[in-house]
Amino acid sequence: MGQHFGLIGYPLGHSFSQGYFQKKFEKLGLVDNTYSTFELSSLNEFPRLIQSKKLAGLNVTIPYKQDIISYLDSLDVSAEKVGAVNVIKFSNDRLIGYNTDYPAFKKSLREFIGQIECRALVLGTGGASKAVIASLEDLSIEFHQVSRIATANAFSYEQIMLKPEMLEEYKLIINTTPLGMSPNLNTFPSLPYENLTSSHFLFDLVYNPEITMFLKKGKQAGSQVKNGLEMLHLQADLAWDIWNA
Ligand SMILES: NC(=O)c1ccc[n+]([C@@H]2O[C@H](COP(=O)([O-])OP(=O)(O)OC[C@H]3O[C@@H](n4cnc5c(N)ncnc54)[C@H](OP(=O)(O)O)[C@@H]3O)[C@@H](O)[C@H]2O)c1
Repeated sequence: MGQHFGLIGYPLGHSFSQGYFQKKFEKLGLVDNTYSTFELSSLNEFPRLIQSKKLAGLNVTIPYKQDIISYLDSLDVSAEKVGAVNVIKFSNDRLIGYNTDYPAFKKSLREFIGQIECRALVLGTGGASKAVIASLEDLSIEFHQVSRIATANAFSYEQIMLKPEMLEEYKLIINTTPLGMSPNLNTFPSLPYENLTSSHFLFDLVYNPEITMFLKKGKQAGSQVKNGLEMLHLQADLAWDIWNA
């Protein structure tokens, strides 16, 4: 008998997860498994969805990664640490929330920078930045956030532009904003890119296009660059492991 999975979010355009899991089911010969997208205009529709479908697992995307928590029975430590859920496992009528963006980013970052010691700038303060920060804490990498408006915990882009030599102290720069993501190909975080060197590492969580303007400018300065594609695949594989554990 097949198992049923899906993705909730709003709006849901093209879904990476649906294609990814459908291919996985084919490869594993799980022909009765299904993966559907459920575009919910409000989470009020969630209880009816899970009553009407016999689901084994769900992925959760924007804008519900935080608000879904109040509908769940318990949280795994990964979701507790990040404060957001991107995977739900249905187990004996209990709903358990996990966060696989966090371990996926951690692994992808480790493979990128190896064991080098550095300090990091995290661009953006949204949901994705929380998974990044949890990873940096685990890896004992000191960081500072960057936001459009300066706060006690975040530099503004303007402050960095006024003091470009600051980039010498931060050899790892992680973009967690949607800048540069298709179709907004010509947008990028405002940074003094001319101060980047070959000892800088630029990680962009955006994976479409493969090389964003942020990464292109890093490459032009001779910096090492990596996009979010490996992280995307890792978070999906980790979800599959959770659903099958
Ligand atoms: N590779 C993966 O597996 C993976 C996983 C998760 C997310 N992502 C990607 O990560 C990106 C961010 O996701 P998210 O859920 O955190 O998104 P989000 O909450 O919509 O935005 C993240 C932050 O980006 C900053 N921001 C938004 N618009 C901006 C603009 N026009 N200029 C400058 N800063 C802006 C904001 O921070 P401030 O208000 O502080 O400036 C915002 O809180 C998306 O592109 C998403 O696709 C990738």
